[in-house]
Amino acid sequence: MKIQQLSLARVTNEKEDVSDNHSQLNMEGALIARDRVGVQDFVLLDSHTSEAAFLDNLRKRYRENLIYTYIGTLLVSVNPYKELDFYSVKQMEIYQGVNFFELPPHIYAIADNAYRVMCAECNDHFILISGESGAGKTEASKKILQYFAVTCPTTEQLQVVRDRLLLSNPVLEAFGNAKTLRNDNSSRFGKYMDIQFDFKGAPVGGHILSYLIERSRVVHQNNGERNFHIFYQLLEGAEDDLLRWLGLERNPQKYMYLIQGRCAKVSSINDKSDWKIVRKAFSVIDFTETDIEHLFGAIASVLHLGNIQYEEDSNGHAIITNGSQIKWISKLLGVHLSILQEALTHRKIEARSEEVLSPLNIDLAFYARDAAAKAIYGRTFTWLVNKINGSLANKDLTRKTVIGLLDIYGFEVFETNSFEQFCINYCNEKLQQLLIEMTLKAEQEEYELEGIEWEPIPYFNNKIICDLVEEKHKGIISILDEECLRPGEATDLSFLEKLEEKVGDHAHFLTRKLADQKTRKSIDWVDFRLLHYAGEVTYCAVGFLEKNNDLLYRNLKEVLCKSKNGILKECFFPSELDNRRRPETVATQFKNSLASLIEILMSKEPSYIRCIKPNDGKEPGKFDDVLIRHQVKYLGLMEHLRVRRAGFAYRRKYELFLQRYKSLCPATWPHWHGAAANGVERLIKHIGYKPEEYKLGRTKIFIRFPRTLFATEDAFERSKHLLVTRIQARYKGCLGKREYKKQREAAIKLEACWRGALARKEAKKRIWAVETIKRFIKGFINRKNPLCPENDEFVRFVQYTFLTKLRDHVPKNVLDKNWLKPPAILEETSAMLKKICMRNLVRKYCQGITAEKKAQLQQKVVASAIFRGKKDGYLQSISQPFADTQLSERDINPKVLQLIRGEKVKYMTPVVKYDRNGFKARERQLVLTQSAAYVVEMAKIKQKIDYATLKGISISNLSDGLLVIHVPEDNKQKGDAILQCGHIFETVTKLCMLANRQNAVQVVQGSLQFHIGSGKEGTIAFTTGQEPQIYKAKNGHLTVVSARTKS
Ligand SMILES: Nc1ncnc2c1ncn2[C@@H]1O[C@H](COP(=O)(O)OP(=O)(O)OP(=O)(O)O)[C@@H](O)[C@H]1O
Ligand SMILES: [Mg+2]
Repeated sequence: MKIQQLSLARVTNEKEDVSDNHSQLNMEGALIARDRVGVQDFVLLDSHTSEAAFLDNLRKRYRENLIYTYIGTLLVSVNPYKELDFYSVKQMEIYQGVNFFELPPHIYAIADNAYRVMCAECNDHFILISGESGAGKTEASKKILQYFAVTCPTTEQLQVVRDRLLLSNPVLEAFGNAKTLRNDNSSRFGKYMDIQFDFKGAPVGGHILSYLIERSRVVHQNNGERNFHIFYQLLEGAEDDLLRWLGLERNPQKYMYLIQGRCAKVSSINDKSDWKIVRKAFSVIDFTETDIEHLFGAIASVLHLGNIQYEEDSNGHAIITNGSQIKWISKLLGVHLSILQEALTHRKIEARSEEVLSPLNIDLAFYARDAAAKAIYGRTFTWLVNKINGSLANKDLTRKTVIGLLDIYGFEVFETNSFEQFCINYCNEKLQQLLIEMTLKAEQEEYELEGIEWEPIPYFNNKIICDLVEEKHKGIISILDEECLRPGEATDLSFLEKLEEKVGDHAHFLTRKLADQKTRKSIDWVDFRLLHYAGEVTYCAVGFLEKNNDLLYRNLKEVLCKSKNGILKECFFPSELDNRRRPETVATQFKNSLASLIEILMSKEPSYIRCIKPNDGKEPGKFDDVLIRHQVKYLGLMEHLRVRRAGFAYRRKYELFLQRYKSLCPATWPHWHGAAANGVERLIKHIGYKPEEYKLGRTKIFIRFPRTLFATEDAFERSKHLLVTRIQARYKGCLGKREYKKQREAAIKLEACWRGALARKEAKKRIWAVETIKRFIKGFINRKNPLCPENDEFVRFVQYTFLTKLRDHVPKNVLDKNWLKPPAILEETSAMLKKICMRNLVRKYCQGITAEKKAQLQQKVVASAIFRGKKDGYLQSISQPFADTQLSERDINPKVLQLIRGEKVKYMTPVVKYDRNGFKARERQLVLTQSAAYVVEMAKIKQKIDYATLKGISISNLSDGLLVIHVPEDNKQKGDAILQCGHIFETVTKLCMLANRQNAVQVVQGSLQFHIGSGKEGTIAFTTGQEPQIYKAKNGHLTVVSARTKS
């Protein structure tokens, strides 16, 4: 009670909480949240046996738009008849990978749970969605499909599969759904769709099984109902060209098959936009243009068939009144007009071995026409499903797990219930059986088997009703088939009589004849009543035989077999004609396909969604108690709740439980070596299960409350991360080691290769060196021979070496006389080079000297001619350049200069003049002009010697500085001038050059004679001594002593 008060106060918040970050919700939080608006799980109801409490809870939640409620793991969904905001991608993400009870109930939780268990345990699942027409089954299945499409991992390649899975729905709905009184988009066929997942959990393919398309709707619709959507979509949405090609007009009122319900146009349906979606879907699902052409050819031919009208001829035979329709059919189906015409008005009867054509009366002709229309539509639908399957098929053979979605018609109870309702309700009986088998019965049996203390729950096992319908030879279907097949006049009434006769005493069967007084009133003479598990349904037997037979006359079948329309060609097999046996009746076909469906489902893990329709008016917010109570009853919800409440929420084999959770206890991790049961006991003791939370069976552990399991699961999730980290670390270690080894091996290999390469290089080098040395030696030996192959290289080498060496050692100036010693073979070349080099240096030197220097050098050349090898001291003087003059004009008395004004003074030097008599030494200046030499004393010119009269010049061979200028012996002249000067070489050279008398110099040895004047001569002796001196010797000679040179 407390919880409920609390929950009402929080009603308004639940929707916001849905989008709360789910990770914040811990287990306890989730439990409280569940109780806010009614209870999220009926298992938590206080009075779980009360239907009123059940309805009350449902109502409370429905008012708050909480359309989903659990009974354990079963989901109850009430159609809201309005768009709700909890189907967004964000919502899908919230429910992804979260434990069932941690969030408010949602269809996404069911989908996610099935998906996760499938991934974890690698097994197949199915989600059975049931409920009456308009309860929201198809919507629910679409929501699940969308959930998988958004949340499952996928690749770019798999996007195509995903799109095809999603888009197969609008196509199937266009061809298989129709507006009925109960539902504007009622599925008129049962659908079971397998979604295949690969080992990564990505959807990789699918397969669809369809059940019992309601073919009678093609030719007849009740008031307020429509034919299948596709007819209206085609007329409304198709392009003009297509309609023209099909011979159709846009107006549905023109077609008999479309107007019987008198509601071709419905405001809630937009045929035009639906057409566009279907066209788009065709392209995604791989339909070719030819497929589409043939498909609509078949659909249009159905519409044309509906407009064929007959009238009676005089013999009472049917003839076709309007010819244009049949022409279109003949064109669209590609069959000959006359054959088609005949087939629609005649029937082929086999009389013994002959075949006879018998004309049809008008009723039979209409019957034949409608049968053809139904057959064409029915088989085209089957083709369509196969085609979609082809495009969804996954050709890869690896193992896949599947989740099947079963969206199948719910229990139907109309005012008049016919053959279709009989089949549909039989189907629901079978599915209830499955539920009982898989849950209720199995549950109780399991408790007994496991030795768990258990108080049996009474439940109604509807097997008795299933048997009543399907039992071989004794069941209603067998009786119906028998009536259909037996020779003679079988009618719906004779069928009813047979039923009374054979199953009349069955507790769940009634007819007017068998009923008591009170009940009789509600049953007509043509009715029979079945007491289904969900309640009584009275069926009108009229039409049962015909619908069960669904006969298509043989000649019509023949015509359709010959059709050029690709789809009909694929659907009508000539082999059918050969088969002399009657084809299986509709009821038997349905029974067989149901049996195989049950087989498919039995091998999978179930999840259930029970859809409830809240009112008949499709109104949002209206909760019709009577209607809902009825559904709660026939959906078996109360029974389910009772079992759930009494039982255990979860059970698993010890081995599996231990395998999954062993990491939570040190004693069981990583291996438990004892019996699994003991391991589990140890494990749950470690986790801390309380005694009331679980029971241990013979082979399984039973956990009473979901929260216990989910707490365990949470702990496992946490420990999984740890384990994963450890495994990852190991694995990374292994990878690292492997990589290291690889790299190491690679490095060693590289090193070896590299060393090899180096060694080879070295060896090559050595071989080359040996070869080179050998050639060198050979060359050396043969070096003196003329150039030949043996010495060629050596010679070139020597040449090269010498020349390159020479390049760095060529003399840098003319005085540098060093030159590299050439090898013998290059001596000649070397000499030439040396010459060239010297010449070059000289040229360079010459180019580099000034005019003055040149004049100086010329003087030196003259000096060389005069003195070289003749006079001591000359060699030492060479490096001493000659001065222009030894005195400047300032040193000469101006008077003297005045006297010799006309001549250009060329050279002046101080000299010592020795008197010719007595040899007295006097300081004088020697001035050389262009034409004469002057001996000057102060302001006086003591002696002028014209060059023209110059007789000669004498000097000694010793190192003294004495010179004698010889003059002619005439009276005008004073005699020879004896002079001593400091720069004997310079002075004498200048004098010679000025006088232009280079050969005038005489170098004497020992002594010389000089002319004193007036015919007398004197002698000058030259000698060497310790020190240089000049004196008059006793013999009267002038003695000139030169310092002895070291030799
Ligand atoms: N979850 C939902 N949210 C909003 N509207 C819904 C929901 N479920 C059903 N409906 C509404 O109810 C209508 C009928 O639903 P749906 O076609 O799924 O019923 P059904 O059980 O498949 O019926 P049938 O047996 O006739 O095929 C939908 O067209 C839609 O308008
Ligand atoms: Mg449906």
